[in-house]
Amino acid sequence: MYAVTEHVIESLATAGWYVGRSIFSGRLTAMLSDRAAILVQSGALNVARIGRGDAAAANADVRRDATLWLADVPVHAAEREALAAVHALRTRLNETLYVGVREAELHFAHYEPGAFYRTHRDRFRDDNTRVVSLVFYLNCDWPDDAGGELVLYADDDSGTVVTKVPPRAGTMACFLSDRFPHEVLPATRERYSLTGWLRRAA
Ligand code: OGA
Ligand code: MN
Repeated sequence: MYAVTEHVIESLATAGWYVGRSIFSGRLTAMLSDRAAILVQSGALNVARIGRGDAAAANADVRRDATLWLADVPVHAAEREALAAVHALRTRLNETLYVGVREAELHFAHYEPGAFYRTHRDRFRDDNTRVVSLVFYLNCDWPDDAGGELVLYADDDSGTVVTKVPPRAGTMACFLSDRFPHEVLPATRERYSLTGWLRRAA
């Protein structure tokens, strides 16, 4: 975990993004993958919304995933461990890059086959507290031709692709929330992730 964390920090500092091995162990990723599948089966996820508070609206033209926020102190052991690992990364980021991120929020996300999330940035017009976006993929044996990639684009709105990430278990993606427009392409199978943000205080 230590070595991976240092890679994430180095990459965020130089390029503003990281894609590679997850800070979660294989065992934790497998537990989260099982947990996500059970939550989806039990109907615990909600149709995802766009924006915050009163402005939040479900908009199926923009995004078609369903999500479930983790509690601040999760009861489930894997969720608690995941949040602890994210807080450890948060602390290390503050120590090395002085980014001043005080909070972490995480949600499970599930995309049905064909579901997508159109190009967007992870900052709300009315809330600029999100500093770092994190995505932990939870899909074992994801075939190359299954789609569902996360596509990161250059900040200049030229449409230049920075990287394209298959949502394979054991991979994490991480980027500065205000810098990279990005989208989720439709997949031929169900797509699970744990997605989150490091935030500075409001
Ligand atoms: C998001 C998002 C990317 C992904 O939830 O805001 O962009 O790969 N997710 O799931
Ligand atoms: Mn996003």
